[in-house]
Amino acid sequence: MRMKMSEAKLISGADLSQKLLSELEVRVKDLAARGIVPKLTVILAGEDPASKSYVRSKAKMCKQLGLASEIIRLDAAVTQGELLTIIHRLNSDDSVHGVLVQLPLPKGISEDIILNSIDPAKDVDGFHPANVGQLSIGAPTFVPCTPKGVMYMLDAINCDLAGKHAVVVGRSNIVGKPVAQLLLAKHATVTICHSRTRDLPSVCKTADVLVAAVGRPKMITAEYVKPGAVVIDVGINRVDGAIVGDVDFDSVKNAAEWLTPVPGGVGKMTVAMLMSNTIESAERKNKA
Ligand code: GUN
Repeated sequence: MRMKMSEAKLISGADLSQKLLSELEVRVKDLAARGIVPKLTVILAGEDPASKSYVRSKAKMCKQLGLASEIIRLDAAVTQGELLTIIHRLNSDDSVHGVLVQLPLPKGISEDIILNSIDPAKDVDGFHPANVGQLSIGAPTFVPCTPKGVMYMLDAINCDLAGKHAVVVGRSNIVGKPVAQLLLAKHATVTICHSRTRDLPSVCKTADVLVAAVGRPKMITAEYVKPGAVVIDVGINRVDGAIVGDVDFDSVKNAAEWLTPVPGGVGKMTVAMLMSNTIESAERKNKA
């Protein structure tokens, strides 16, 4: 008779983001003692409901931590020129340490041109090509927030990545590619999969660490997971009003050893890491 596997242990984004925030509090106090308050400015163009909710949670966490924040809300009809003018003003405003343009942008605006226009020293998202390049040569300045949050979670469970097979499903600039770079920097053997990968379940099943960042609700089932693997679910999908991940939690919990829940997993880390990058920017600008 087969023994029933024990259920996966949860990696709690709620707990770990609180731990990170308490680490950050110390740094905010140190800066405050020197008369410095890190400030994040977020630009939100248009009415995308998910973007509005993300931006609200960013501002809320700034307040909780004692950071200054400003949200610049723009009509979806804003022109690229108007947006660039605002970014240039923020680039030269000494009181602003982080400039973040919430994606996706309204139609007709080039994401490349906008991301390129942000001062790399204020690019707390880590999306400017200069920062992407720094990450790829292993000398990171600003690391994108979600990948940084994923690495914090792996570190929290003492996951030694050296020599392990890490499989990343998804090749986006925001998550898939940067998380692959970070895993590689920790000496994992990294495979990046995407929509054209042949026999995806078999490839995923060889993973010691599986990172799902595809944006397809509950796509990763137990069939994709090696028993004992660490499974990190980056998906945030809205299905009938509920938030579900890319991982089919009820199926995978019986195969994985560690698993991140959605909600209450990676998403919480992302916002906390944005605070970390904003504080880092203020520290860097004011280093003695
Ligand atoms: N839209 C979805 N995720 C992100 C993110 O991490 N940063 C920005 N700026 N926009 C997003």
